[in-house]
Amino acid sequence: MCGIVGYIGSKDAKDTVLSGLQQLEYRGYDSAGIALVHDHEIKIYKDQGRVDHLREICNVSFSSNLGIGHTRWATHGIPNKLNSHPHISNNERFVLVHNGVIENYKKLKLTYLNDYKFYSETDTEIIANLIEYFSNQGKDTRDAVLTAISELEGSYALLVIDKKDTNKIYIAKNKTPLIVGTGESGITIASDVIPLAGHCKNYISLEDKTFGYVTSDEIHLFNYFNKEISFDMKQLDISSNAFGKGDYDHFMLKEIHEQPSIIRHLVQEYFDKEKINISTEIIQCIKNCTKINLVACGTSMYASYMAKYYFEKLCNIPSEVFVASELVYSSPLILDKPCFIYLSQSGETADSIAVMKKFMDKGFPSIAITNSVNSTMANLATYHLNIFAGKEIAVASTKAYIAQIVVCAILAKAVSGQKTNLKNNLSKAALAIEKILEDKILIKNIAKEIVKANDLFYIGRGIDYWVCLEAALKLKEISYIHTEAFSSGELKHGSIALIDQGVPVIAICTQEGTNSIVRSNLIETKSRGAKDIVFAMESMSEASDDFIIPNVAHYLAPIVSVVVCQLLAYYVATLKGNDVDKPKNLAKSVTVE
Ligand code: AGP
Ligand code: GLU
Repeated sequence: MCGIVGYIGSKDAKDTVLSGLQQLEYRGYDSAGIALVHDHEIKIYKDQGRVDHLREICNVSFSSNLGIGHTRWATHGIPNKLNSHPHISNNERFVLVHNGVIENYKKLKLTYLNDYKFYSETDTEIIANLIEYFSNQGKDTRDAVLTAISELEGSYALLVIDKKDTNKIYIAKNKTPLIVGTGESGITIASDVIPLAGHCKNYISLEDKTFGYVTSDEIHLFNYFNKEISFDMKQLDISSNAFGKGDYDHFMLKEIHEQPSIIRHLVQEYFDKEKINISTEIIQCIKNCTKINLVACGTSMYASYMAKYYFEKLCNIPSEVFVASELVYSSPLILDKPCFIYLSQSGETADSIAVMKKFMDKGFPSIAITNSVNSTMANLATYHLNIFAGKEIAVASTKAYIAQIVVCAILAKAVSGQKTNLKNNLSKAALAIEKILEDKILIKNIAKEIVKANDLFYIGRGIDYWVCLEAALKLKEISYIHTEAFSSGELKHGSIALIDQGVPVIAICTQEGTNSIVRSNLIETKSRGAKDIVFAMESMSEASDDFIIPNVAHYLAPIVSVVVCQLLAYYVATLKGNDVDKPKNLAKSVTVE
């Protein structure tokens, strides 16, 4: 979960690398650094802070044709200048940047590097010295890199410069993404395809345990037996302006507004009139199983609750939602023939990948539902479905959540074979979201009422409770207000003790069967001083409600009610002056466990 960019070619490496880092900053942004080759020297500029700050400290006049850069999300060592990347070996010959975690770095330090001096607290720094160590044994750089990475346990995407061979960038990849793009002016390497846009025509997404080197016009890849491997390049079909904010102040607001068109796009992608374009293998895989285990993290896990609802209601298959980070280290009782379905926007979440590998090794099929066809999970899984949400840049996930729910509804319909009005109901849901977006000033006014809260509760039951979970995450991760979601009936069993004068409690009411009981639970909080707020669907709304959600099919309510909560979180965060797209302590893709 950091951004890596490398460039070698005829253009200015500094500009290419810095603009690429800026585009990847959403992946991690506590510090940034760049190494530039100039006159056979390697100039390093790095510090805590954002890429804009890095631009200021590397405001150099010389030009360079080879550069590597990094935006960090610290795992070992606090965010500061010394711990930021690039890191350099003791003899100052090898300079590298790294995305990932080296689990055995302490052991390697003790085994090989006792005579080496370390300047940082990071795991990464040992890699630079390990390469130097093996190079000092007479190995050429390629062999030194291979020997060093063969000792590593953990995840890494690495770019390495050898001061004695500055016509190459050495690369290595295991578990964290690394993409190599070719273009007329040279070769660009990055953690994601975005920095390739505008520079490259073709690209390859490296497989695990691949290493090699690139020059300005060649790519050489090898396996860990040092055998050169052939590979096919894919055509890059993204334009550089696909990743701008357009007229929006933040990517998050842009992505919230994209949601209606994404729903319509999903209908086009997955429906051919009444036929659903999902492979019979995937449908049969689910039909053959006796239980569906849904595995995810964060927002994707909250979307999984709706998937559970659809598979149980439409397909009559028992389904269970698991927190990926728990399932890695637990052994649930498996008495049946399960299939595992993984929801992941990035497809690079380490917790989810670890579970996928664990249960695929046990022979259980996996279906990855991701927003990235080239991701580790999409490539690893038995089957993959794309959610077609388009690049999601804001750390707080919005459009991916809705797209995941829509794809799971379509998948469940395909498996059930039932005649439902899903297509029509999805287009109504898209219209409902557009109506909410038209009325967003009402939500901004509610944000002004709660912006000073220290604590806030979302309450609901069933489907509405699952939306409360996502609503609470949205609010806390960008406004930093401590927000909890409660099944409204649960509050009275203890947590209602937290309700104090003026504490906002927001009830989400979109389900006929629970509307009145949730409202009475809300009154219980109001009678203890809470500031009660209601987001209700029109068909069950009351005059005093704070926001009326246009009517949609009850089973699609979450993709509409959540938009009110997304906007509320957005407005509270902007009122507080927070960095909405890059909230503190977070990263877009959590590629470490
Ligand atoms: C959601 O707003 C957060 N960014 C986070 O919870 C995220 O959903 C989680 O890390 C899972 O990411 P994934 O969907 O890429 O696997
Ligand atoms: N583990 C390395 C560090 O803490 C890399 C973290 C990252 O991927 O940004 O510096």
